[in-house]
Amino acid sequence: MINIGIIGLGNMGIGHCLGFDRLSECRVVAVADPDEKQLENSKNAFRKNSPQLFTDYKDMLKMSELDAVVIATPTYYHTQIAIDALKVNKDVFLEKPIAPTLEETDVIIKEYANTDRILQVGLVYRYSNLYRTMAHLIEKGTFGNVMMAYCKEYRDNFPSHWFFDESQSGGALLDKNCHHFDLFSWFIRSPPKKVYAMGGKHLYKPGHKIQCAYSSHQGEPLKDPTIVDHANVLIEYENGAKGNLGLCMYEIEPIEGLEIGIMGDNGTWALTKKDIKLTIAGGPVGKLKEVIVDYYSDNERVGHIGCQTERREFLECVKSREQPYANLSIAREACVISFAAEKSIKERRAVSILEFANPEIDAIFQKLGYKKQPNTPSVFSLEEKKVKSRKKLELKVKERAIKRELEKVKEEIRNL
Ligand SMILES: NC(=O)c1ccc[n+]([C@@H]2O[C@H](COP(=O)([O-])OP(=O)(O)OC[C@H]3O[C@@H](n4cnc5c(N)ncnc54)[C@H](O)[C@@H]3O)[C@@H](O)[C@H]2O)c1
Repeated sequence: MINIGIIGLGNMGIGHCLGFDRLSECRVVAVADPDEKQLENSKNAFRKNSPQLFTDYKDMLKMSELDAVVIATPTYYHTQIAIDALKVNKDVFLEKPIAPTLEETDVIIKEYANTDRILQVGLVYRYSNLYRTMAHLIEKGTFGNVMMAYCKEYRDNFPSHWFFDESQSGGALLDKNCHHFDLFSWFIRSPPKKVYAMGGKHLYKPGHKIQCAYSSHQGEPLKDPTIVDHANVLIEYENGAKGNLGLCMYEIEPIEGLEIGIMGDNGTWALTKKDIKLTIAGGPVGKLKEVIVDYYSDNERVGHIGCQTERREFLECVKSREQPYANLSIAREACVISFAAEKSIKERRAVSILEFANPEIDAIFQKLGYKKQPNTPSVFSLEEKKVKSRKKLELKVKERAIKRELEKVKEEIRNL
């Protein structure tokens, strides 16, 4: 049995309480947050576990029975807490992004290199059935070589005040889009070379109000936001592929949401919308088809797609001592693209990825045997275990997709 402690009990931390509480391979023995209200709130997340409550994570780290910690504090606390946890030999699940600056990111990596610990970064998309399915199609050669990738994320703003302070969150592109830059790297499978970005503040000025569907600070005015509220980012990869990301952080509900697409050099493309539908078409695959994906089992509806697989695989790594899939090397690359984009906006020039190179870090990753892009692990299915016939599950998913389409057609007819 693996004993877990969760540090930081805001939106993500409570999600981790709910998620780890369901997994039989672990016990949540402690939670920590300086905010006593959050400590109290966290009790509602547990059905099985009744962890000890700490206002200071340092006291929690003294528990000898603790095997691993989850760090879900604001990003500007990550470095200190991760180092303190590694120093007392705890395995670490560290929420993304690694840290608010490249300097701090590299400090964590160097500290990690002196240990024999597991450190997994919360790049939750890497654990989702949807994007693993897309990656498997790529690895099978469905698209030839992926030469273009794009992401449009138009959404409401951040849930807590600290996100709006660049020195605390590292900026909007780091916090929000390190996930999407990581998807680009995963799909394109060539190192990034150059980044050019434009962005700014249309609305994020003192007094602008927090507007985020799940925020407990809804409607509160911002003091002095220093992050961009919109950006367009172009990335060139070593093999000539291009990535293109558009971010808008002030859309009002209902939210248009996330769209991610790829284009292969054989003329085949793929598109996902709002993380729930994967369509492929063109090139050798021909006409439009929806790819069947099990959207349920990787999250069991307790959070973001992939969140339960992410936790399960972390526990497997703690047990087996195998390196995690979302390792520090993959996560650093995603963060570097974000830092380059933020720098490009400030300095109004194209930024070379070489400006972020650190031979000491490269040597550490080489010594650890990290591959640039390891092969994609399998998709996870709970139902597969419960329901013998995979076909039945696929048909259920297909039925839901057809129902969604039918609803859309009915809506169109009504609107005629
Ligand atoms: N993986 C993802 O998709 C994803 C999504 C959202 C946020 N995040 C990341 O998760 C982290 C937390 O984000 P959030 O949205 O939960 O923030 P939040 O503001 O909702 O919660 C942060 C919590 O940490 C607590 N805290 C502050 N200092 C602490 C300390 N020293 N020790 C213990 N607890 C402390 C706060 O009291 C608060 O309860 C951030 O790094 C964020 O970027 C990841």
